[in-house]
Amino acid sequence: MTELKQQIAKRRTFAIISHPDAGKTTLTEKLLLLGGAINMAGTVKAKKSKLHARSDWMEIEKKRGISVTSSVLKFTYHNHEINLLDTPGHQDFSEDTYRTLTAVDSVLMLIDAASGVEEQTKKLFEVCRLHKTPTMAFINKMDRDGRDPFDLIDEITKTLDITCCPLMWPTGSGRDFIGVYDRQADEIIYTDPNTTHLPPNLQAKLDEELELLSGAGDHFSHSSYLNGQMAPVLFGSAMHGFGVPEVLKTILTLAPPPQPRLTSQRIVAPDESTFSAFIFKIQANMDPSHRDRVAFMRICSGVFERNMKVHVVRLGRELRLGRPTKFVAKDRSLVDKAYPGDIVGIHDPGIFTIGDTLSQGEELHFDGIGVFAPEHFATVDLKDPLKSKQLTKGLNQLSEEGAVQIFHQPHSRQIIVGVVGILQFDVVKFRLQAEYGLQITWQQLAYSAARWISSSTAPSATPPAAPQLDEFIAQQTQHIYYDRHHRAVVLAENLWQLDLWHNRYPHLVFAQNAGI
Ligand code: G4P
Repeated sequence: MTELKQQIAKRRTFAIISHPDAGKTTLTEKLLLLGGAINMAGTVKAKKSKLHARSDWMEIEKKRGISVTSSVLKFTYHNHEINLLDTPGHQDFSEDTYRTLTAVDSVLMLIDAASGVEEQTKKLFEVCRLHKTPTMAFINKMDRDGRDPFDLIDEITKTLDITCCPLMWPTGSGRDFIGVYDRQADEIIYTDPNTTHLPPNLQAKLDEELELLSGAGDHFSHSSYLNGQMAPVLFGSAMHGFGVPEVLKTILTLAPPPQPRLTSQRIVAPDESTFSAFIFKIQANMDPSHRDRVAFMRICSGVFERNMKVHVVRLGRELRLGRPTKFVAKDRSLVDKAYPGDIVGIHDPGIFTIGDTLSQGEELHFDGIGVFAPEHFATVDLKDPLKSKQLTKGLNQLSEEGAVQIFHQPHSRQIIVGVVGILQFDVVKFRLQAEYGLQITWQQLAYSAARWISSSTAPSATPPAAPQLDEFIAQQTQHIYYDRHHRAVVLAENLWQLDLWHNRYPHLVFAQNAGI
């Protein structure tokens, strides 16, 4: 095997999706401990509060004690290179969270055993479904009294419309949680390593449940998992580190290494000798003394080397990448070499936009890195109206960076700003002041959903779709806006209103995301 092929086979690039408080920070910390990337319990947690306030990230992060943008963590486990992409989940939920999911090869879905499938998990899973991302589930907090595991499996199956296949099965829960039965190895992993067997009542219950499980069918199929149609399920307790090595081992054995990626031109295989990558995130002001931006690229093929000259396809321009950075816990270090699946932060002198492709000269455009429907909308009141040109420039730049989306109506100069997570309004307000010297206030609008509208592509649609689109746009003029690529978007006050339109205009497509 060539060195490149070996490096690819060793890599796993994944993200954890969950609802706030399911235990993502706790699990991340345990994964990093296992990988030896940190050696002090509490490092990641502390980053959330005290330590974090000392970091050189944005002022707003210090005030709120949270991380505004997602970070990338790299560690080694059993001779594999793991890239764990963090997905901000509390109030700092934003489009970055969604976009991170376009840069991974698989996803670990973390579910609180007491709460089941919650709102944010559903939203994030929808993005995974769109990309057919292989998804594995970890049911956490088994040390607490939770819900019946059959109930949970049923809920995941029905709510997320995915087949579940428990690879492990818990014995007891809460105080009675004694361990998990590994269905493939046919052995019990006990929470207390001194335990040698189950009490007879729990053994009888386990036998009964295992019989029910095998009766339910759905044997594990690796190809169904890789197609995003089946989720292997594990159980454990992140807080006690129980089940966490099993999660990592399962990721090594089942989760895919860096995969071929679709571009508008052709499929790019990771083991092609020429380098290619795309930018999925741009983060501003990591170093306030330089006011610089860092663009995060996911490498898709070939080998990346420091000081390499790359071709920025959109600009048709060569650029030398001099200070590529990787991230381990809260530390950063320079990268000399990186391979497909790796995430590298590169200095952005203000030229990159989300979705940019970097190559060694070939005209490629990676698909699937898009914009996602905002859920909060506002107009801007500028304190000094003479600075409106500055405001337009600032908002345009922030929208290219993927921090906000901007919409217009024909014949109106009013800008509508849309964001996925409400905290983005604070972030943008802060940045407009810090970087453009603008003082603004937001006037929030009653809208809560946006959809890109187009006519159905089905040629046989009856009645024909194109006239329906014209009719819809004419009827709903006050709700119709245009994004920065002049695509028509309808803004709705609630999902009920959207459903109504959907039913009335069955041949129109109401898309939750769009290309860049
Ligand atoms: P998040 O990043 O997904 O938001 O969740 P986080 O890890 O911060 O965990 C949320 C809460 O759940 C924390 O409690 C954490 O200790 C607890 N937790 C995480 N995993 C487990 C588990 O396996 N079992 C139990 N019983 N609890 C778990 P907290 O009280 O909010 O914070 P702390 O005081 O423990 O730090």
